[in-house]
Amino acid sequence: MTAAESPRLVQLRLNGAIPRHIAIIMDGNGRWAGERGLPRSAGHQAGMASVREVVEACIQTGVAVLTLFAFSQENWQRPAAEITALMALLEEYIAGEASELRDKGVAVRMLGDLDRLTPAARGAVDRIESTTAGGRALALNVCLSYGSRAELVRAARRLAERVRAGELEPGAIDEAALTAELYTAAWPDPDLLIRTSGEMRVSNFLLWQVAYAEFHVTPVLWPDFTREELFAAILDFQNRDRRFGRVST
Ligand code: FPP
Repeated sequence: MTAAESPRLVQLRLNGAIPRHIAIIMDGNGRWAGERGLPRSAGHQAGMASVREVVEACIQTGVAVLTLFAFSQENWQRPAAEITALMALLEEYIAGEASELRDKGVAVRMLGDLDRLTPAARGAVDRIESTTAGGRALALNVCLSYGSRAELVRAARRLAERVRAGELEPGAIDEAALTAELYTAAWPDPDLLIRTSGEMRVSNFLLWQVAYAEFHVTPVLWPDFTREELFAAILDFQNRDRRFGRVST
């Protein structure tokens, strides 16, 4: 079956209400590898194929923003060999896909404490951001060395600096002012948060931004997450009654 013939894709187009912004906690690479007697890095390698599929599926369905949790601040505590393998994968992804992503109209941004990356990884990040800047089909945010609490602390510091500089009154600090200091300031909040591998946790990901997101948790491990799984998540989203704290109409 080609992707264009997918009954789920046909159905979700008929339903309408495509989420503007999807965020994904890509979990289960290690378990996927363990089940096959492979090193954890093989799970991350397999997870790259799912990233490619999901990017294409978002373009196909008209999702405007996709935010992926690729590496948390806590992940720096993993064994050095796994961190090295993940950084190498990042560089491989950028070297192999930057021009194709640009041609597809995908604008890539990397969000997080990027100063902790190796100079080579940092250079690769700068390269993909500049190569793809201006893409209009999809904004792809990859959270790297990212923690939501650290992002909020950074935002609070930036607001405090603006107060100290006399640019901002403390009383003028509102939700919009804080939102404007987050890495995600340029995009609307996620409508749908997907987590793979069945864990029911937010794991310090976009805590402020998911205030009204719908959650879709699937037992599927990230390397097994296909285009069809994304369509199923969007169909699940379309069946929700989003009230934003109000009552149903
Ligand atoms: C979680 O699985 C996944 C990660 C920590 C890394 C995700 C990275 C990729 C999918 C590849 C790189 C992506 C890009 C965009 C360059 P886990 O290792 O925590 O799995 P486990 O819970 O089963 O151990």
